[in-house]
Amino acid sequence: MQIMINEIKNWIKEAADLVKEEIAKNDMTIDTKEGRKDLVTSVDKKVQDFLVEQINNFDPEAKILAEEDGRDRLTDFSGRVFVIDPIDGTLNFVLEKENFCIMIGVYEEGKGKLGFIYNVMQDHLLWGGREIGVFINEENLTVPKDLSLKDGLVGMNSSMYRKNAYNAQIMAERSMGVRMSGCAGLELIGLIEGERNAYVSSLAPWDYAAGSIMLEALGMEVSDINGNPLKFAGRELFMAGTPSAYKEMRALVEQSETENS
Ligand code: IPD
Ligand code: CA
Ligand code: CA
Repeated sequence: MQIMINEIKNWIKEAADLVKEEIAKNDMTIDTKEGRKDLVTSVDKKVQDFLVEQINNFDPEAKILAEEDGRDRLTDFSGRVFVIDPIDGTLNFVLEKENFCIMIGVYEEGKGKLGFIYNVMQDHLLWGGREIGVFINEENLTVPKDLSLKDGLVGMNSSMYRKNAYNAQIMAERSMGVRMSGCAGLELIGLIEGERNAYVSSLAPWDYAAGSIMLEALGMEVSDINGNPLKFAGRELFMAGTPSAYKEMRALVEQSETENS
């Protein structure tokens, strides 16, 4: 496993150098996918191509689930699977040139093995898994405090908040405040580091794979909004948190479902 960890760290650092070179050149192309706010750049594609090539060289048998270039569906999770988000927070990348991440999750026989989230411009690499613990760069992270909902900041999707979906506004009101970073990776880093107590959003598998592996390794709760295991098939409502905050948020979700039935 150590060989694979070192390889993946090297790929991520090389991919990050590539991203920084592209920012400096300032000639990336930007296209829309499913609407004017759903962007993909030539850099997202370059990073994904680079990571796919590294994976194919390292383990030609491995399967890949990734956001771009028609690699976004996978039905067979047997063997080793790499789940890639080449740039998470593309809108931030385009408009802010910061607050974006590169993410890789590794699964073996359907079980989360290793997660990597790299905050490129801050040079923060969060990595780890159940068997080895979780690290920020080379520092071993301790299990975050079990903050209750009222004692911490909740990361939340803006549309859920606006529509008060699943009592999202009550979740926000009961917490210390809501944060909306536009980057799932940063929200997940916040949870892993104990700076957030929960995160709820509509996410795709490459948005939650790496973070879920590390959260579970730290004893945090991760599921879909109804408390069921994540499906790794298209977007779904994702919910994660400290055991206490998660329980309170699940109770609010159930309450909203009873009220609406
Ligand atoms: C998006 C970001 C955003 C989340 C969206 C994701 P992308 O990823 O993580 O925070 O709310 O659901 O799609 O498209 O920038 O990789
Ligand atoms: Ca993403
Ligand atoms: Ca992306």
